[in-house]
This record gives sequence, structure tokens and C-alpha cells, in this order.
Amino acid sequence: MYPAELTSPYLDRFSAAAAQRYKALGIERDDPDRPMKIAALNSEGFGAPVVLFCYLDRTMGPGQWGDAGMYLQTVMLLLRAEGLHSCPQVMWTMYRKTVSQTVGADDRFVLFCGVSVGFEKEGAPQIRTGRADMTETVSFIGV
Ligand SMILES: Cc1cc2nc3c(=O)[nH]c(=O)nc-3n(C[C@H](O)[C@H](O)[C@H](O)COP(=O)(O)O)c2cc1C
Repeated sequence: MYPAELTSPYLDRFSAAAAQRYKALGIERDDPDRPMKIAALNSEGFGAPVVLFCYLDRTMGPGQWGDAGMYLQTVMLLLRAEGLHSCPQVMWTMYRKTVSQTVGADDRFVLFCGVSVGFEKEGAPQIRTGRADMTETVSFIGV
């Protein structure tokens, strides 16, 4: 799902976001069953009734992977316009063989991610994960 050697600051941000998200869902960092519980929640699409699966033709390169991200962002915004919420989940790639068998995708295609889709659960805790400060991620040149 991620580079084998994910380094700082990416690993730190990833860990912090995961800790926030899964704590809000009742899974503490020191829970010995944490990995299994996280996999279970993800595999249930966090309770959403629908999961979209996005594939790319295996011959595509980095530019087209970027295109796919932009495409999915647009899908997610259009879902909001319909009153729906969504959650991209790269975790589905861990089960890519099963997913491909289920949806009938052949080897020409590579699974990018799943996107769970559903209506927001009323009363669920608000768990918007933190974001790195813009000064860490953007360089303004010439201002
Ligand atoms: C391409 C992509 C894949 C992701 N995969 C997962 C995933 O497998 N499991 C997960 O819990 N969050 C995953 N996330 C993060 C969540 O979907 C979500 O974007 C993040 O928690 C921020 O949510 P918030 O805006 O509600 O704070 C992924 C995000 C992106 C953009």
C-alpha cells in the first residue's frame, strides 16, 4: 500500500492520522488486536453499503496515476453534491486478488483503491484527521 521505507515526515503524518481516526472509532494504540480490528472496519467499508473499486490499465505511468486521483476526487465531490459521503481506502489492495475475482477484473488492470460510499451516520463522532501546516507542504516563490 505504501513504500516499504516510508520515511519522516510522511510516516509520522500517516501514524498520527491513523491514531486519531482509529481512536475515534474505539481502537486504542496498545490494543493487541488493533491490526485485526482495523482490517475488519476497513473490510466493512466503515459500515457503508457500497464500495467503488478503481482500476488502472497496468501500462499506465505516474502521470496517469495522478489523473486517477483527480478523477476520484471529482467523484467524491459529486457524491457530496448528492448528499452522500465517501472514504477512499487503499487497504483494499491488500485483498486485490479477491477483489479482482469478485468484480471480474483481469490481469490487465491494477487496483488503485476502493471508495466506500454511504450516508453519514447521524450522531457519529466527528473525526476529521489533522493536516500538516501549509508552510510544511507548500513553497511560495516570488512573494
Ligand atoms: C487514496 C487514499 C487511500 C486511503 N486509504 C485509506 C484506508 O485504506 N483506510 C483508511 O482508514 N483511510 C484511508 N485513507 C484516508 C481516509 O480515506 C481519509 O481521507 C482520511 O482519513 C481523512 O479523512 P477526513 O477528511 O475525514 O479527516 C485514504 C486516503 C486516500 C486519499
